This record gives sequence, C-alpha cells and structure tokens, in this order.
Amino acid sequence: MAKQLLTMETLVTLCKRRGFVFQSSEIYGGYAGFFDFGPLGVELKNNIKRAWWQDFVHGRDDIVGLDSSIIMHPRTWEASGHVAGFADPMTDCRETKKRYRADQIFVSPVTIVEMVAGAVPEMIGSVAFMEDATADEIVKRAKVLRDSLEKKNCKVIEEKLAEKREFDKVPEAELATILGPDATKPGSLTPARQFKLMFETHVGALQDASSVAYLRPETAQGIFNNYKNVLDTGRVKVPFGIAQIGKAFRNEITPRNFLFRSREFEQMEIEYFISPDADWKALHRKWIDTCIDWYVSIGLPREGIKEDVHPQEKLAHYAKACTDLTFQFPHGQQELEGIAVRGNFDLTQHQQYSGKNLEYFDEEKKTRYLPHVIEPSFGVERAFLAVLTSAYDEDEVPNDKGVAEKRVLLRFAPKVAPYKVAVFPLLKNKPELVERADRIYKRLQKRWSAFWDASGAIGRRYRRQDEIGTPWCVTIDFDTIEKDGSVTIRDRDTTKQVRVNENDVVAWIAEKMGEN
Ligand code: GAP
Repeated sequence: MAKQLLTMETLVTLCKRRGFVFQSSEIYGGYAGFFDFGPLGVELKNNIKRAWWQDFVHGRDDIVGLDSSIIMHPRTWEASGHVAGFADPMTDCRETKKRYRADQIFVSPVTIVEMVAGAVPEMIGSVAFMEDATADEIVKRAKVLRDSLEKKNCKVIEEKLAEKREFDKVPEAELATILGPDATKPGSLTPARQFKLMFETHVGALQDASSVAYLRPETAQGIFNNYKNVLDTGRVKVPFGIAQIGKAFRNEITPRNFLFRSREFEQMEIEYFISPDADWKALHRKWIDTCIDWYVSIGLPREGIKEDVHPQEKLAHYAKACTDLTFQFPHGQQELEGIAVRGNFDLTQHQQYSGKNLEYFDEEKKTRYLPHVIEPSFGVERAFLAVLTSAYDEDEVPNDKGVAEKRVLLRFAPKVAPYKVAVFPLLKNKPELVERADRIYKRLQKRWSAFWDASGAIGRRYRRQDEIGTPWCVTIDFDTIEKDGSVTIRDRDTTKQVRVNENDVVAWIAEKMGEN
C-alpha cells in the first residue's frame, strides 16, 4: 500500500483493535498526551529497545549502559539551562478555548476583490493555520474570514495567500485582524507567551518553593551527572559513549498525532564523548549513517528517512551542529531523531554548578580536558510509530473458498515482531493433533514469544496473525501424526507454505531469524 494513503486514523484504530496502544485512562474519558501499551504494544516496544541496546551497547566496545533516576537534584536543570529556557511559545484562542504552539502556527494575508469590473483589491486581515494545513484548507479559512466580515460577494485572491509568516513574529497590534485556526471571527488569539515544559513535583514533606523538583524532560542529563562515575569505575577511554533508555516527560502544549508528540515518552540516548580536537564533523557524519542503518535494520525503508540539517542561525547557542533524521509518518515527513554536536557545554555547566572537577585525563597525551559530545537522541515512540507505518500493508489473498479477499498485514522485521511464531493444531477437537501441537508450541515458547490459536478456520487464524505481524505460522495436521511428522510453516509476506519436520521447526525459525 502506498504509504501516503495510510492515515494516522487507520493506525490508531488498528492499534486499539489489536491491543497495541490504548489511550491512557480510557475509562475516565482518556488523558491527552498519555498512552498505554497493550499486550502487543509492549512486546513491540520492548523489541525495539532490546534491538537498540544490542546494537549500541552490547554490540560495541566503546559504549556502556546506564539507568539513572527520573527525578534528579534540581540544580541539574539549572545547570542544563532547562529551568530558565525550556519553554515553548503558546497562544490561546479566546473564542474556542483551544491552545496552540505559537511557533507551529503560520499566518497568511487575506486579500479580496469585489466581483465587478475595475474593483480594487482589499486586504481584510489574515488567517492563522497549523503548519501542516493544506493549500485548500487555507483557502477555506480565508473564506471564513471574508464571510465573518460580511463580504460574501467578494472573491478571495488565492495567490496572495501564498505569503506566510510565523505567528510569534507578528506584531501584537495585528492580532485583532487575525482569524485563529479554528475560530469563526478574527481577534481571538492572545499574544504568544512562554509556556514551561518541565513537569514540576515536590520532594519531601514540605510543599513549597524549596522542595520543587522536576520530572526529567530528557534522559541526557542523567548521563552527564554520571559521566565522572562511569569514568572512575569503568574501563572507558575517550572516545566512548554512555547509553540510556528511559522515560522523559514534557508538558507539551499540543500533544498531537497519536504517539508522535506525547507528554510521557521514552528516549534512547547516547552521549558520545570525544576529544576537543577530534574531527567532530567526520564523527557526526558517521553517527548519522549508523543511526540510519539501525532504522533500516528494524524495518524502515531507507527512502523514507531524510536528513534535516539545522541552519547555523537556528542552532542552540551551545550546539555546533544538529541534524534531525526525519521520516515519512502518516502525518508527513517529521522528526524521528536528533543527532547533535553539543561541544562541551553540558559538562562545563555541570562542572560550574556542582563545583566538581569533571575533566578527563588523557594518559597518552598527558593533558586534561572536558570532552566534547555527539548526542544521538532517539525517541522510542517515534521509532515505534515509524516501524508500524513501515510495516502496515494491505493486499488481497484467496480465502478458504479460494475467493480473493482484502488482507491487512504488518510486515514487521522478525526481530521486532511481537510474536515470532504462531502454532495451530488443525482441529481443536482432535486430541492427538492438539497434544502434538502443544509439544512444538512449548519448545518454541522457550526461545521466542509464540502464540497459540486452536479456534476457527485456518485461513481466519492466518489473517489474525497477519494483522499483528507474526512472521510464521506452524500448523500441525493429519500428515504430522499419520505420515511423516512434518508440519507446515506458512510465511506471512508470501503466504507460501513449506513442510518441515516437527523436530526441525526451532532450527528453521532460528535460521530465518539469523540466530543460528
Ligand atoms: N537530549 C536531546 C533531546 O532531548 P529532543 O530533540 O528534544 O532532544 C530527542 O528530543 C528525541 O526525543 C526526538 O527526536 C523525539 O524522537 C523524541 N521526543 C522529543 N519530544 C517528544 C515528545 N513530546 N513525544 C514523543 N517523542 C519525543
């Protein structure tokens, strides 16, 4: 299926129907920006994290792991700059009571002209719209503005709408003439103001300013806090990395697009420490390529991944460079991961705020320095969504009666698939089939997540597994018990079946998994 035809709604519905992802607190009407991972979702998520840890920690000699606490000393966030500056501009709509990220809204001027000869075009104000609005949607909004000013008999000059400005750069005096993204009359948007993104809590018995602490908005600072501990207790030498997977929390103004922007999510981050005189450009490039290869290894199509290089003037003051990897999600080509070159900003700050010497002693060169850092920062949920988007497919296969039927399937790479294999006794009321199938199932279960299904027509059982992305289905039939002990193994993607001896099933799957 062409990916551009896949909508987020289709994915959300599939995720709910098959137990991948549920809205948090659904029985209470849901809680915006929070999600729960169901039986299949937790398997998929864990498999993504396991693959990451295998490839970036176990599979490398230069990276070690860490699991730091979520709540850290509040000074951490002063040093990192988050207390002072981790905020997004927001604007409220007084009419609809909706709230928007002011840097994600754009504004276009609306010019109309009366439909009579010689009429002079008139600029009547502007329309504000979300960054992903289509040209047609912007025209529609322009017509709402025109109608609200009771100028229905005029024509909107569509070409003039092409001019686009960022909302938070618009002078306050103009706000009265701007129609909000969902409003019916102009003048309802408030001036942009900063909205703090860190969730605050209190630690200890007192609930006052002295006990304020934060839920970490990134895992990275836990790594910087522990950099010296790792250095002093491990056998690492620059260049080396510290990797961490863990929860992060951001009070996003507008959590949107399903898992893409949520308020509680997981990051998989690496701080890769390098010498100040290392060729950081070459190392940055290498990290970008390594990350892309990793996404391809978990099933993303190479052509869906693009690089978005941050222009020098938009870089954070401490960053030397930053490249986002973007992916073709159902809602557009959007950020999947950031790979930043952070210089030694963080260690410098922590050294200053903690008063502890964080320098690295280079034994060969007999010099001391604060290492610089390259930071690949992956989002687990974005990887999850990208894997689902890549895997989703629809095709037609013959049903039990030989009639072509639409099939929905998830073509997961086997290593991330929630279940690797399903086992079916052909008939559930034949104890000899069930008992033989159970033996094979138990053997498979020792090694992989396996699924047992004894009910319904075989075709329907295949369909159910296709829809949750199980790569192989093993069926135990009468040939198994009466003839040669062979079973069928059916491939999800091709629907082709092969016969394999029941004693060879584990080895057969291990080989397909690349685990032999
Ligand atoms: N330590 C650097 C850092 O946190 P970031 O660009 O703010 O950088 C890194 O976040 C990654 O974390 C993003 O590329 C994305 O994958 C994920 N991420 C950030 N905010 C998120 C959110 N609200 N919901 C889901 N994932 C998010």
